Amino acid sequence: MNILILPGDGIGKEVTAQAARILKAVLGSEATYEEAPIGGEGVKAAGTPLPPATLALAQKADAILFGAVGLPGDELGPRDKRPGLGLLTLRRELKLYANFRPAILYPELVDASSLKPELVRDLDLMVLRELNGDIYYGTPRGISVENGVRVGINTMRYSEPEIERIAHVGFKAARGRGRKLCSVDKANVLETMVLWRETVQRIAKEYPDVEFRNLYVDAASMELLRAPKQFDLILAPNMFGDILSDAAAMLTGSIGMLPSASIGEGNKGLYEPVHGSAPDIAGKDIANPLAAILSAAMLLRHSFGREEDAARIERAVRSVLASGLRTADIAGAGREKVGTAAMGGAVLAALR
Ligand code: IPM
Ligand code: MG
Repeated sequence: MNILILPGDGIGKEVTAQAARILKAVLGSEATYEEAPIGGEGVKAAGTPLPPATLALAQKADAILFGAVGLPGDELGPRDKRPGLGLLTLRRELKLYANFRPAILYPELVDASSLKPELVRDLDLMVLRELNGDIYYGTPRGISVENGVRVGINTMRYSEPEIERIAHVGFKAARGRGRKLCSVDKANVLETMVLWRETVQRIAKEYPDVEFRNLYVDAASMELLRAPKQFDLILAPNMFGDILSDAAAMLTGSIGMLPSASIGEGNKGLYEPVHGSAPDIAGKDIANPLAAILSAAMLLRHSFGREEDAARIERAVRSVLASGLRTADIAGAGREKVGTAAMGGAVLAALR
């Protein structure tokens, strides 16, 4: 097993270091590790957010543990040097089109949720985000000058096969959990989303055992904040999934708690905490490493079929939370706060 670690920028380095400690403890000499720069670090090392050497390592790795990319003000620079492009290119190059973002509220963190306990207790919801299409990749795109004024252009684009393949992933995943799928779109305004809705609706007929409905994305975000437990699996196009998964994260106590798995046809996957690089708190040893550690658990489960080891890590995280340890983002009033490395060390000690 060859695992590539891509720490990236900001707190990405700190949190992947903790997740790597856990992986090494679980896998011992069964795995080999490689590390490479991406994002702002890629630009620093090789002048591009996805250096060719990093891509080559990613292509041959069995699984990738990813941190975060992004630097303050990075939207101002030229597009080809933007840290986020490193991640976006990697997702496309490796054809990782299905992004699972499980929003689970651990009972120990009910008080840290942004919603009242009765609305979120036992929340277990999956956001499945399409990851290779949509306005993220559509062309034409760019900023140009028309009749003397600058205009920005992006294109929301999906082909029918792209929608079909993510819909199948969604319905199959729903079968493995609560058998309810809600597809999110904006079909009342956008033609791309009409195609999305028609296609998902058609595929839904092949899965009569899964309860299916559509919601417009504005209604979906409202329902997510009003009564999140009505959802089991939310299937979303790339951009709406990006937004809804951050909102879902807050229901679980903190964005620092939400892991993710990006997968394609094979077993290879890219595993990343949903939070960003958080440059404001980077280097201070205060970031929450649990989303990264839980991403490592998803790596073991999806890429290597090691359900037992994944469950061990998840149990260790819960027992650490139960013991009262909290990083600042989930601490709440009157609780003692621990740092990133101490939290990682506690999870390591709790592995059984
Ligand atoms: C995410 C991030 C990325 C995205 C950025 C860093 C490009 O927000 O993984 O959710 O928009 O997909
Ligand atoms: Mg995001």
